[in-house]
Amino acid sequence: MSTTPLPVLTRGFGSTRRTDAWWIRPAIIVVLLSAFLAYAQWAAMQGDHYSYGPYLSPFYSPLIWGANAHAWFATRPSWIPLWFSPAMVILPFPGLFRVTCYYYRGAYYRSFWADPPACAVGEPRSSYWGENSFPLILQNIHRYFLYAALVFVVILWHDVYDAFWFPAADGTTHFGMGLGTIVLAVNTTLLTGYTLGCHSFRHVVGGHLDALAGRPVRRAAYECASCLNRKHMYWAWCSLLSVAFADIYVRLCSMGVWTDWRIF
Ligand code: FES
Repeated sequence: MSTTPLPVLTRGFGSTRRTDAWWIRPAIIVVLLSAFLAYAQWAAMQGDHYSYGPYLSPFYSPLIWGANAHAWFATRPSWIPLWFSPAMVILPFPGLFRVTCYYYRGAYYRSFWADPPACAVGEPRSSYWGENSFPLILQNIHRYFLYAALVFVVILWHDVYDAFWFPAADGTTHFGMGLGTIVLAVNTTLLTGYTLGCHSFRHVVGGHLDALAGRPVRRAAYECASCLNRKHMYWAWCSLLSVAFADIYVRLCSMGVWTDWRIF
């Protein structure tokens, strides 16, 4: 059998025969991820205006210490520096879960590292940066951060339950619902869909098995995870935007800029 060698096509950075606006997608991703990272860092460093009545910002949940009913401990441990907010203790866990997410890796490899910036567009380096060696091999830690993320999801649903119980002047609580209750519930629903659609979760609940026949519970869990996984990109973006909005909502209500609409 005869073979005909094909020439290897090398393109300079950004050169392409594509005529569509291929750069719009990576540009939007750079803007959105940069804005989120800047806001999340700012909000985590504030250490204030993270709760309002029964609402707790997801950036500060669980609240390890603080002067309100959401806190596990009333005072900051003395060995923790003053500038360290309770959010800075917990945010590395959901943060690293998201940073190492298979979808986000693809998104920021393309958008920030231009590796490559889009299909059939020249990239700035000729070597291949695989995930088999340091530092990118650390991305494999994602499966362990999944377990932390699952714990956070349970805690956030507890916060949603708390958001139905409004404190009264006499110290008791009354069942009710405000716009903030809905904001927190929608955010937690989106974070749950994002977490349960994780590739690693799909692997854990059934993907590692050769056959799911005769295992109805695993099969149902695997199919549910697979269903969420098909739209993982949408869950990723919607939950990213909702978690920022939930913090903004609680923060602006606490600052008196917004008034929470009490439905009943
Ligand atoms: Fe995206 Fe696990 S792959 S959260």
